[in-house]
Amino acid sequence: MSSVSLLSVESLSVSLGERSYPIHVGAGVLASREHLLPYLAGRQVMIVTNEAIAPHYLAALKQTLAGADLEIREVILPDGEATKTLASVERIWDALLAAGFNRHCTLIALGGGVIGDMAGYAAASYQRGVAFIQIPTTLLAQVDSSVGGKTGVNHPRGKNMIGAFWQPRAVIVDIDTLRTLPARELSAGLAEVIKYGLIWDISFLEWLEENLAALRALDESAIRHAIRRSCEIKAEVVAEDETEQGVRALLNLGHTFGHAIEAHQGYGNWLHGEAVGAGMMMATRLSFDRGWLSEADVERVAAILIAADLPVTAPANMQAEDFLSRMRLDKKNLDSRLRLILLEALGRACIRDDTEAEQLHRLLERFPRG
Ligand code: NAD
Ligand code: GLY
Repeated sequence: MSSVSLLSVESLSVSLGERSYPIHVGAGVLASREHLLPYLAGRQVMIVTNEAIAPHYLAALKQTLAGADLEIREVILPDGEATKTLASVERIWDALLAAGFNRHCTLIALGGGVIGDMAGYAAASYQRGVAFIQIPTTLLAQVDSSVGGKTGVNHPRGKNMIGAFWQPRAVIVDIDTLRTLPARELSAGLAEVIKYGLIWDISFLEWLEENLAALRALDESAIRHAIRRSCEIKAEVVAEDETEQGVRALLNLGHTFGHAIEAHQGYGNWLHGEAVGAGMMMATRLSFDRGWLSEADVERVAAILIAADLPVTAPANMQAEDFLSRMRLDKKNLDSRLRLILLEALGRACIRDDTEAEQLHRLLERFPRG
């Protein structure tokens, strides 16, 4: 499934027929023309990034594109989850129109999940769809958001409520970019890595338990393995269920609780990965209440989240009712039955819409607050 080039770049594939695309993973791959230029649709290139990332990586990316007879423009947005709005996407559309870019242009998302989701949505909608490439620079984006084609923005009434499925032409993961990432953001990314172990692969979970310290210290071989295995799992799930009719929903473990936390706290105050961490703990506890997990399993999940420096308690300012009203707005639950991703065992997740309201209410009342 994977091949190794002289640059020590490993390439995985997301298999979606004609829309299949590679994920190139390596240290320094941002400087590699051979891993970027073949995926451009034409001469017009719009780089989308933000004020925090541009000083670190924009010049390097432009250097890689230099000399290839391209028309390169950039749009540098403000930073933060609170900017993941339609107004920011409008700025990207404006920049594309002002530059006179046509349907053969390519957007390059250089940044974390916020930039990737917005640039992807701008690409999905500009002139009814143009090419885009993901260059994720956070761990969370490298293992999750850059792969699989979910794009979009938040609405004040709910997270990711406006969006589209639109696949990139390539995902280019330069693990060296993690060296400038704040530790709190690295932990947030680890939440999604741990998620893959919990929902899909018990042996990966065991590997993570042994290697969390190495991951937090950015040990290159540990980081590579974690990104590769996470992307393999995501690619497998997306290839089977691109538009989340079934198995892809398993990737949302903890997200229904987590989205409620993010929205209630105000976007950006709890990081997405932190909210997912607490949400996974809540889903784990509910799975215990349903009789599927042991107390030892619950402790194991808490231990790995704590080792990743992620929260295992819910926000002190959220009552059960706050969760319930937000969770009903989560887009996965727009129909009447609340659908939750739970764990039948560690390493095996399930989609259930049969949690009794009373049982859910009891969990939300009793779950520890931080
Ligand atoms: P983010 O994009 O806000 O990035 C986190 C912070 O790190 C930002 O301040 C950013 O500017 C900064 N940053 C990024 N790369 C950096 C680097 N290399 N060095 C220094 N600073 C850097 O957050 P995120 O955690 O990457 O993404 C979260 C978003 O992703 C959420 O909006 C979430 O909904 C979305 N998401 C989408 C999917 C999907 O499938 N599309 C999946 C999971 C999450
Ligand atoms: N992060 C969930 C998904 O991509 O489906």
